[in-house]
Amino acid sequence: MWSLYGDFAFPLTIFLLLLSTQCSSYSAQIKPKIKSAVFLSPKFELGPGSVIDRFYPDIDFPRGHIALKSFNAEVVDDVGNPIPLHETYLHHWAIYRYYQSKNVTETKHESKVLEDFDKVIVWNSGICQEKILGQYFGLGSETRGTSTDIPDPFGIEIGNPIEIPEGFEEKWLVNIHAIDTRGAEDKLGCTECKCDLYNVTIDQYGEVIRPDYKGGQRCCHDYTQCKLKDGFKGPKRNLHLRYTVKWVDWDDFVVPVKIYIIDVTDKGMNSDHRCKIEYNIEACNTDHKEGNSCVDVKRTSLPLPGGYVIYGVAHQHSSGIGSTLYGQDGRVICSSIPSYGNGNEAGNEVGYLVGMSTCYPKPGSVKIIDGEILTLESLYNNTKEHTGLMGFFYLLVAEQLPSQRFIHSTRSSFFMDVDNIFLDN
Ligand SMILES: *[C@@H]1O[C@H](CO)[C@@H](O)[C@H](O)[C@H]1NC(C)=O
Ligand SMILES: *[C@@H]1O[C@H](CO)[C@@H](O)[C@H](O)[C@H]1NC(C)=O
Ligand SMILES: *[C@@H]1O[C@H](CO)[C@@H](O)[C@H](O)[C@H]1NC(C)=O
Repeated sequence: MWSLYGDFAFPLTIFLLLLSTQCSSYSAQIKPKIKSAVFLSPKFELGPGSVIDRFYPDIDFPRGHIALKSFNAEVVDDVGNPIPLHETYLHHWAIYRYYQSKNVTETKHESKVLEDFDKVIVWNSGICQEKILGQYFGLGSETRGTSTDIPDPFGIEIGNPIEIPEGFEEKWLVNIHAIDTRGAEDKLGCTECKCDLYNVTIDQYGEVIRPDYKGGQRCCHDYTQCKLKDGFKGPKRNLHLRYTVKWVDWDDFVVPVKIYIIDVTDKGMNSDHRCKIEYNIEACNTDHKEGNSCVDVKRTSLPLPGGYVIYGVAHQHSSGIGSTLYGQDGRVICSSIPSYGNGNEAGNEVGYLVGMSTCYPKPGSVKIIDGEILTLESLYNNTKEHTGLMGFFYLLVAEQLPSQRFIHSTRSSFFMDVDNIFLDN
């Protein structure tokens, strides 16, 4: 069970054994059975060079008052074969929670932009400006190689009937942005949404793209087409996002975590949050190319509500070197480092960013003080110029530790004694 016994010496073991009756019910309670289900997104069709960036409402999802424990995904074909990134590049997927009026009959209508939806989106806990990066889960090319498990007894609480407004039900939508780079003249350029490879003049909102916009999602939105090698022909195919959700039934022993997403492009600090999501970097000065010092460092500092860090992971694109979140005193809250593939198969594609390392601090050991100014740093290799880069940090934060919940509960004072021992460790 969740390191209750692991770190303690002999006398405490005795102490706990003496109280084994209570302990056994305690341990049964805090390790509820993890359930798991695999779902398929609606089908989408991609031919060489084509792009999908679409929002699908009312996707299959576990229902009821539960705590989410993990979310993983991958792109598969019609018969379930995993598709490697060098064929279909998974730019990103993101899962949003929303409330839908029970009066609405037609709920399956898909859309190019989230703003099209007449839905009450339930945003995460922040911290970008309204409507930006408000998803519950989301990753990109690194999905297959990145752990999303939330350790016991923590979880993301959803489906609480008390929170869902009268006459509404809770639903989920997914945004899938995928780029088919089979036969592309410049695969990396297509995945970085370099505008001169796409036949676009207007963006997904119908606005004209100015010539100084070099690359990013405004140039590779739904139905755009990336440049192919002369004469390349390849079949269209039907694909899905296949996603695996793990959860436990809600009970009072599950400790809820809040979701924060920090964006390195956030203006932060003394202005309102203005997350731009993407940024470009210039190629480094040629003088430095020999010296192995071609590293672009981007930083932002901003305050975050307090709590205990339970999980952390960064999101970067290929050529990322790593990302670190620092506390106000300079301590490392979490550092997340990319791994790159060296083969051909799905999950290990050579040259692609196929995983991000994650942080699982021992609960209680990494605390953010309420309003503490954190600094996020995102490092990229800028030997070459890049467009449409991202530098996010996804954090799960518990406002209370399990022990503190017991202090506030009606349980016997025995638990308080155990708590005190915990807190000393
Ligand atoms: C659903 O329809 C009923 C009857 O028209 C109305 O009273 C109610 O407010 C509607 N509920 C929502 C959530 O729109
Ligand atoms: C350019 O994009 C449009 C969609 O905006 C698409 O219908 C058309 O086929 C594309 N043209 C080429 C040459 O790829
Ligand atoms: C950056 O990438 C180049 C190859 O494009 C490589 O030679 C160099 O070692 C990399 N630098 C760092 C700091 O990763």
